[in-house]
Amino acid sequence: MQSLPGFRDFLPDDCAVRNYIFARWREVARRYGFVEWDGPILEPTDLYKKKSGAEIVDQLFNFIDKGERAVAMRPELTPSLARLVAAHEREFKKPLKWFSIGQFFRYEKQQRGRLREHFQLNCDIIGEKDLAADIELVALCIDILRLFGFTEKDFVVRISDRDFWTDFLREKDVPTNRWDELLQAIDKSGREPREKTAQKLGELSDPIFSILKSGGKSRKLEQLVDGLRERGLADYIAIDVGIVRGLAYYTGIVFEVFDRAGKFRAIAGGGRYDNLIAQLSDEAVSMPALGFAMGDVVLGELMNETPHAREKLEHAIANERKMDIYVVIAKEQRRADALAQIQQFRDRGYRVDYPLTGEKVGKQFQTAEQLGARVAVLFGDEWPQVKVKTMASREELLIDNHELQSHIGRVLSRSS
Ligand code: HAM
Repeated sequence: MQSLPGFRDFLPDDCAVRNYIFARWREVARRYGFVEWDGPILEPTDLYKKKSGAEIVDQLFNFIDKGERAVAMRPELTPSLARLVAAHEREFKKPLKWFSIGQFFRYEKQQRGRLREHFQLNCDIIGEKDLAADIELVALCIDILRLFGFTEKDFVVRISDRDFWTDFLREKDVPTNRWDELLQAIDKSGREPREKTAQKLGELSDPIFSILKSGGKSRKLEQLVDGLRERGLADYIAIDVGIVRGLAYYTGIVFEVFDRAGKFRAIAGGGRYDNLIAQLSDEAVSMPALGFAMGDVVLGELMNETPHAREKLEHAIANERKMDIYVVIAKEQRRADALAQIQQFRDRGYRVDYPLTGEKVGKQFQTAEQLGARVAVLFGDEWPQVKVKTMASREELLIDNHELQSHIGRVLSRSS
């Protein structure tokens, strides 16, 4: 039996990487004052229809459940967030700053950087229309990547403003029912042959291509750049009006994060969606909102290919895996005494391992080494004394068994 295409097995090494990513996502989101929440994995299919845009609806993992409901595994979190916020709006002080880490499912063609399941960090600010929130969000996104060891030479946040394009379309008297299709064509223009985009853009193709070439400008984008410059983050961003975002609900500033070399798909993406909450609540609640999501797949690939980020990852994982104590049982008669001490060590929060069945002493020390144990404690002929070996210095000491706990406490606090 094989796993389904686009679904991953997480062996212990993969889980270690995943935990490393989640821990850093959580850490920086907390530094920015975001609180954690989550929504359900399964939602009514209707939640995503129309609201997310054609691309996502085509990619839904959806089915009819045993109660005849049309349901879908969540492809993204934003519609759930909008639904939930509209329902609980009165319970929280605005603006809300919420983050979430979870798994998402899209029936995509499997390719580098795109699978059928992936994990995302979502960070959203609800109830703030000021540009200060957009700046804060981009800064948060940059700081997360910096904590992984990436620098301005490794990645860039490409920022744009959908208003820039909707103003343009309005000026050209394009009927609003064509806007979505034109915005999608602009969004794909970087990834598609020029003729294909030109065909989609029709009579607007010349002016749009010329804007894409010369780059667009807006007061709002300039203010955003200023805000990030004040924080010393200007080197991490670039204004690029070619970024429109595939999702239908965005209304203002939008951004996507790419590796500088341009080898990978987007690492993260997001923007403002000031109308979504009103749309999903049939206008009962209206609140400005903005957010972004960062995926684990491209992030993992980029870490692998960026030596300084990979070193950081490997170092952290090796440290995280280390055992504190390995107990060597040299005489089976001492096993019960050893286990009494092991129990106490674990109660005190130490990571302790030992052989479940009899093993040669040399082999046990080898295991202690492999597990990165800081000390080995040997129960054998020396009883009622035990031998404590500090693994790094190879120093050995005989200690009375009843003094073992306090001695180990001192040794480990010294070396930690
Ligand atoms: P998105 O651009 O569709 O945005 O996804 C965000 C990130 O999730 C992408 O940049 C990518 O890293 C990752 N991702 C998406 N699809 C896949 C896939 N099939 N395989 C691997 N990674 C993937 C959203 O989902 C918006 N809801 C983000 C947002 C939050 N906007 C406002 N708040």
